[in-house]
Amino acid sequence: MRELRVIDETESGDAVAEAVREGLLAYPKTLPPWLFYDEQGSALFEQITALPEYYLTRMERELLHRHGREIAAGRDEWRRMSVVELGAGSAQKTAWLLRALDAEGRGISYLPMDISATALREAEEQLGREFPQLRLRPVLTDFMRERPTLPIDAEAQRLLLWLGSSAGNFEMEDAVKILRDASAEMREGDLLLLGLDGAPEANGRETDKKISDLLRAYDDAAGVTAAFNRNLLKRMGRELGAEFCVEQFEHEARWNGRTSCVEMHLVSKIAQSVFVRELERSFDFQAGESIHTENSRKFTRDEARALVAAAGFSTVKSWHDPDGWYGLYLGQRV
Ligand code: AVI
Repeated sequence: MRELRVIDETESGDAVAEAVREGLLAYPKTLPPWLFYDEQGSALFEQITALPEYYLTRMERELLHRHGREIAAGRDEWRRMSVVELGAGSAQKTAWLLRALDAEGRGISYLPMDISATALREAEEQLGREFPQLRLRPVLTDFMRERPTLPIDAEAQRLLLWLGSSAGNFEMEDAVKILRDASAEMREGDLLLLGLDGAPEANGRETDKKISDLLRAYDDAAGVTAAFNRNLLKRMGRELGAEFCVEQFEHEARWNGRTSCVEMHLVSKIAQSVFVRELERSFDFQAGESIHTENSRKFTRDEARALVAAAGFSTVKSWHDPDGWYGLYLGQRV
């Protein structure tokens, strides 16, 4: 097995402590979503992607399966394709696209980037088995805090992937910056494929998706998303000696129509004070006070195309499920 590039543990520990100090001192209290993805959180997220209520992964996989050939069809002058994926996870959906590229007969190299070593190992094992010819180079990295470097191959067209509507977990300007940084060295004709979850219907627009459909996707009946959210409290306990009583916090998904986001919150059921050993201080909570843990933005088609354009690509095509809930947007470098 190849050796994965590991981020320095002490640096990452300090980053956790700093993010928690800053987030719990802020008003309203808030924590950055990258904190979700420790070993346990990444495993819970994999479970979320298989939930019946969480339609995003299912629809995206279906779109990649159905339209992979069209997405993969390149121009003749490119003999090879370098696929670079931000936040690849275990790359199960991407396998559909790789199958289509493989069928096109072009040599492929694949560089999945993620912050979970377990997910990348799984990707490496499964893809290595299915595509023995694939040049696979997993990179364990946090592209939100480090600028990714793309491999240079003059004869390969590059395809930058950011799937799963992960761009929706960022402020628009941060999502644009991530895309611009990641694509800084891309050339005319290189491609960007973004998977973005659609906004709910408004005035009969684009889809019949209801806000209640969105909220169900972020508050499933089996309680997996609640466990994913509460894992933040457990992580602070494990890594910072925080004395959170997990049962004293409720998982809540809320729709914010102003920002077009599903928000996740951890709401304190009681007034309490929580000591965090590593930070040598306590944090006070009122009854009903929340820690805002995630924004998951939902995009109209115009907003999705605007994001592709702001990143420096022109939208070539988009594909949607029959009900218009989810979209794949293909941009070409201009
Ligand atoms: C990773 N990201 C796109 C997921 C989302 O839908 O915003 C994270 C997630 N949070 C709760 N469920 C899934």
